[in-house]
Amino acid sequence: MGKGLLRTEVLAILLLAGVACAQPPLPAAQTPTAAAGQPPGPTPASTIPAFDTDRVMATIRFLAGEIGPRPAGSEASRRAAEHLVAQLRVLGYRAETQPFTFREYVDRGSELRVVGGRPVSANTLRDSPAGSVRGLLAAAGLGRPEDVAAADLRGKVALVQRGAITFREKVRNAAAAGAVGVVVYNNQPGNFRGTLGEPGPVPAVSISQEDGTALAEQLKSDRLEVELAVRAEVRQVADQNVVAVRPGTSGRVVIIGGHYDSVPDGPGANDNASGTAISLELARILAASGYPHELRVILFGAEENGLIGSAEYVRTLDEETKRRVIAMLNLDMVGVGERLRLGGSLELVNLAVELAANLGLRPERLSSDQAGGSDHVNFLRENIPALFFWRPDDPAYHTASDRPENVEPARVEEVGRLAMAVLEALARR
Ligand code: BES
Ligand code: ZN
Repeated sequence: MGKGLLRTEVLAILLLAGVACAQPPLPAAQTPTAAAGQPPGPTPASTIPAFDTDRVMATIRFLAGEIGPRPAGSEASRRAAEHLVAQLRVLGYRAETQPFTFREYVDRGSELRVVGGRPVSANTLRDSPAGSVRGLLAAAGLGRPEDVAAADLRGKVALVQRGAITFREKVRNAAAAGAVGVVVYNNQPGNFRGTLGEPGPVPAVSISQEDGTALAEQLKSDRLEVELAVRAEVRQVADQNVVAVRPGTSGRVVIIGGHYDSVPDGPGANDNASGTAISLELARILAASGYPHELRVILFGAEENGLIGSAEYVRTLDEETKRRVIAMLNLDMVGVGERLRLGGSLELVNLAVELAANLGLRPERLSSDQAGGSDHVNFLRENIPALFFWRPDDPAYHTASDRPENVEPARVEEVGRLAMAVLEALARR
């Protein structure tokens, strides 16, 4: 690692700038467990440190083993963030947490029942308000303005079919026409999970096509009274990103990062202590190498709640800064499984695929319809070039089994080396 141009060119700069001083070792209190056996010694001034997989594994063990599950808003998430800030400061970065808050919708289940009849299995339409309503059921077609105008919905629960317009619009139209609740039935077999995308006006649920057509059929001859209950909670969650900066000399910016939060049910060793730990190791190598570009190491919170932290970070970037970013590398779930997928900006994917071949790696390209699901998406949306590293085959994905012992050091190292090769290539731009 680090051979070639970077090593030769950069050493001269390093020595001139007098930044070739030894990296201070990690402070004992911060040093993750396994590093204890083999404390990372000071880096000799004459070499650029090689990618150290043991350090990465130690960080994974600390985040996922010592701290454990790190869902947004938790004490564990704060503790992880503080640890990462401290580590990045030791590496010479200006580092701090970036606090943010967001609204979290907690679905506690819904019930639909025909009064004096049978219960109907219902899913909460996300963002529906909590509440219990009772009224006559009234069919209102697809819930378009002309459909709700043709039905008398005042004080009633509207039964509308999925399709043509958004759930939000259906619920809004029905409520505006006086409905006290809305039931959306599927336009294909089975039920589904839908979302309104903003706090809705009245309790709203989805049901299966089978149940929906049966109710619509019954309504042609019978009066049906229904009881609809949505149990849900809205919480304000306070969480944070970790933002670290090291100035450069080129005027350009390279962003490295990944999310450090996990789902509540698992310790998130692969998802995503792996990407977090590799980011930290890349940060260490690049700081010691006198990297020409400004480096930003951003470790995102609340990714598992819908890419919240990265959206928040991107929102704070001004136009001038956005234009200076030549690449954002997002490492998410990169320590388990043989297959490696690369997504994001075509030019960066091409570069990485080419460099991977030199390392004996054969990454797959993520097709653009699979390209979502992680923090780079928020950068791409702002036309910031981004490269997404992801391994698709983790049997422990989002489970309690996503533990450090399941993370494969060889897979971590492959991604670390590939990311480093990409960063070296970018140093020449
Ligand atoms: N680490 C995963 C990445 C991922 C992407 C997994 C695509 C599977 C498919 C990430 O943390 C994740 O779980 N993302 C969520 C979406 C997110 C917006 C909550 C997903 O893909 O379900
Ligand atoms: Zn993830």
